[in-house]
Amino acid sequence: MDWNELKQKCLACRACALCETRHNVVFGIGPETAKVMLIGEGPGEQEDLRGEPFVGAAGQLLDRMLSIVDLSRRNCYIANIVKCRPPHNRDPLLIEQDACYPWLSEQIRLIDPKIVICLGRIAAMKLIREDFRITREHGTWFEKDGVQYTAIYHPSALLRDPARRPETFRDLLQIRERIRELAPETYAE
Ligand code: URA
Repeated sequence: MDWNELKQKCLACRACALCETRHNVVFGIGPETAKVMLIGEGPGEQEDLRGEPFVGAAGQLLDRMLSIVDLSRRNCYIANIVKCRPPHNRDPLLIEQDACYPWLSEQIRLIDPKIVICLGRIAAMKLIREDFRITREHGTWFEKDGVQYTAIYHPSALLRDPARRPETFRDLLQIRERIRELAPETYAE
């Protein structure tokens, strides 16, 4: 499957019940040539209405976090574990995550990133390890199929609990070093 076919099929997906209540499938945003991907949890209200990831309050903080690592929506790819909004912003159920995962897995295969940054516990548990502990393991690195994975606190968690911001700032600084080392073309512009 090429990118366009993947996107068209994904936009018509009815693999789980979230399709009944969505306004838009939030496929993802950024260049398909990106070497860095960021993966959140699932669309919220604003994202569902606009069809774009991280455009609400958490998205504004994410944009500021990206600028710390000299990233923007132009040089990284942003997507979510589930592409349709869970009602009332509840955590996506495992059955929904599993139904949606083939889309993300195919996006990762086609993009072929060097680095994947999980935003929060849900993405880390799906992409790194089922029993991932964000409080203990944020900022550490894991290799899978030649790709480097790490996780940081979700921007919504940082909005709720600003005390976690200094450690996230430190995580971001070392992520920037890792990008410089493994994906320098990200900063080539
Ligand atoms: N939270 C997420 O995890 N993803 C979004 O796209 C928006 C908020």
